[in-house]
Amino acid sequence: MATSTLGAFGEVNRKHWDTQVEQIFKEPWIQNLTRQIYNHLRSNLDWIGIQQPSQTPTKMLDYACGPGIASQAMLPYVTEIRGIDVSDSMVDKFNAGARDAGISEIQMHAVRGDLLAPAQGSLESQDFYGFDLAIMSMALHHIDNPETMIAKLVERLKPGGTVLIIDWVPSKTAFCRSDGSPSHEYSHGFRMDSSQSDLGQHPSSHTVSFDGFSEKHMNDIFAKAKCSEFDYVLATSPSEVPPDPSGQKQMFFAKGTKHRM
Ligand SMILES: C[S@@+](CC[C@H](N)C(=O)[O-])C[C@H]1O[C@@H](n2cnc3c(N)ncnc32)[C@H](O)[C@@H]1O
Repeated sequence: MATSTLGAFGEVNRKHWDTQVEQIFKEPWIQNLTRQIYNHLRSNLDWIGIQQPSQTPTKMLDYACGPGIASQAMLPYVTEIRGIDVSDSMVDKFNAGARDAGISEIQMHAVRGDLLAPAQGSLESQDFYGFDLAIMSMALHHIDNPETMIAKLVERLKPGGTVLIIDWVPSKTAFCRSDGSPSHEYSHGFRMDSSQSDLGQHPSSHTVSFDGFSEKHMNDIFAKAKCSEFDYVLATSPSEVPPDPSGQKQMFFAKGTKHRM
């Protein structure tokens, strides 16, 4: 019997995201959120570890890439980008965007896949290893096993490579002060079932596993994945998220470095 190239929760996500690609990125709050991510990445290249002008080739993985917002932000600063997403529609959108911008497949392309699945198919080729940077943007909360997910991303990095997670601070915590520091200790994000979801009847709620990730939770996950040099910074302002009961959520950017051998 063939072994599946998608995990069980990956399959739930695939079914949902395959139907979302045309509509969701037209929503004004999603457009604002993607602009916020794009601007933060572009404004924090040093923090991400990107040297300018680049002295050496830099290979980036955009995991759970969607249409490729992280890739679009990083494109001028890296030499090669590979995207992976469970959804064929997202992968098609990512590749169409690259093609329409005149970017070669060697420089940037995505494939369907799920690093949590029993079989990896085309992801086993060397093309999907040896990354300097792996970014996972707004997708870790859609994964039922974030510890394993990050360990799998770290396996794909070169020694000294960086994994960068962009996601939500747990919603039961307060937003940042004006100087960007947390206004009180963050609680742990909690695992959700759909009845607990703060997104209520939002069409994506059944695809969400975690309410968010605190700094401590991210540091624990990075440590288990044998990373060092962790950091966790907040977006400079909360994001408008109309499906959330408060109407707002706080985004974070967290990074860890794979041990240098
Ligand atoms: C909220 S979208 C984020 C897309 C993009 N990274 C961004 O920041 O705009 C979540 C994405 O995660 C993908 N996804 C969910 N579970 C996945 C998994 N197990 N492996 C790979 N991709 C997954 C979905 O198909 C979807 O494209």
